[in-house]
Amino acid sequence: MSILIKNPKVLIYNDDAPRGRYFTIEEKDVAICGDSILYVGEPDDDDIAGTPCISPSNQAAAFKPDIVIDGTNRLVIPGLINAHTHNYMTLFRNLADDVPFAQWLFDGVMPHEDRMLPEDAYWGAMLGIMELLRSGTTCFNDMHMHIHQTTKAAVDSGIRALIGRGISNTEGRSGLERRLREVSEEIERWSGSPLLSFTIAPHAPYTCDKEGLRVCMAEAERRGLRLHIHLSESRQETADMRGRCGMTPIAYAESIGLFDLPVIVAHAVQAEPDDIRILAEHDVSVVTNPASNMKLGNGFAPVPEMLMAGVNVAIGTDGAASNNGLNLFREMNLLSLIHKGSHENAVALSAQETLKIATVNGAKALGLNTGRIAAGCKADLAVLSLDRPQMRPFNNIISGLAYAANGSEVETVIVNGEIVVKDGHCIKIDEERVYFEAANRLR
Ligand code: NI
Repeated sequence: MSILIKNPKVLIYNDDAPRGRYFTIEEKDVAICGDSILYVGEPDDDDIAGTPCISPSNQAAAFKPDIVIDGTNRLVIPGLINAHTHNYMTLFRNLADDVPFAQWLFDGVMPHEDRMLPEDAYWGAMLGIMELLRSGTTCFNDMHMHIHQTTKAAVDSGIRALIGRGISNTEGRSGLERRLREVSEEIERWSGSPLLSFTIAPHAPYTCDKEGLRVCMAEAERRGLRLHIHLSESRQETADMRGRCGMTPIAYAESIGLFDLPVIVAHAVQAEPDDIRILAEHDVSVVTNPASNMKLGNGFAPVPEMLMAGVNVAIGTDGAASNNGLNLFREMNLLSLIHKGSHENAVALSAQETLKIATVNGAKALGLNTGRIAAGCKADLAVLSLDRPQMRPFNNIISGLAYAANGSEVETVIVNGEIVVKDGHCIKIDEERVYFEAANRLR
């Protein structure tokens, strides 16, 4: 399939731009050939027609679009990247709100999790993916149980995903091995999929002890996969770890060699200055989840400080039980505003920095060739209508994306060169069926 988006405005990332001025809005045509962006060029540039495009549907040497999307008053952005979530938990949305953390976990989440059937997880994940795609997110990094159902939902919907089975050894070695076996089965089942990758995902040091973490590290190294782990989410977790071994969770992770491998760390809310130094010294990406951290009363991650130290920071929503949405436009808006407010500094985190976190940094964290609109990148992008009151006038479209957009502007979403959202609806998903199933599960 080849697609031409004609005459849109495009959010362009400039690699060598000075800090905080990464993006510009430019009027370009965007040509997609097969799974990749072929060309981003001046409208009506002859070079587009002259650029070779060989794809299954276009064996000719020159680009000839099968589909032309009118870009008038539209904006093309890289698909947003949700770098930490638990999609199947979407069924728990709005079930436990405005209650203390223990009540949220023990009364609101765990009883439902215990009686959840695998099919429930499939429809929960599907509902989550619908929300992601329709608000411009083209990739998610998931951790939890029911890995097969989440994987199948991702494949059925056409979204890109990194999937990890939450691994603990609270029931001993056999539980850990069973969970690792589930990961192996999924990796083998989907080995040819262009949309799926996998992580080894020990849940956290308080559910997966040193022996368990070492097994996970060996497995990640053997398979060449990233690790994905929750670290330093709450003050309680940090205090408990100090009590047990005299170190913060991040210092502990470094001490056992976890950061010798590529790692995706969710949260780092309680990261201290020494922790930030450790994170910056290793191949570690931190995923900040501002809504979840506030909802559960955990505070604000030191995001401006981590960025300043050179840590790659991406953004996630966490699960819908602790958010309650999966909308990265809302998350970007919150991220910037809470750091301006909590630092009493109006320049603590800019719109430019926030957009980079949700695109370029997310792709780096997950090891993907996505996150920007540039020739040679995988074609993961969203087309937004600018004919929306919240997007007018065009004083500063980049500010508009971070501070005024709400995701309802998304008309078309393309993942790996394939259209998966058209006119605001997921065309590979039976949306009515998802609403029906979600309403009738967990009863
Ligand atoms: Ni989480």
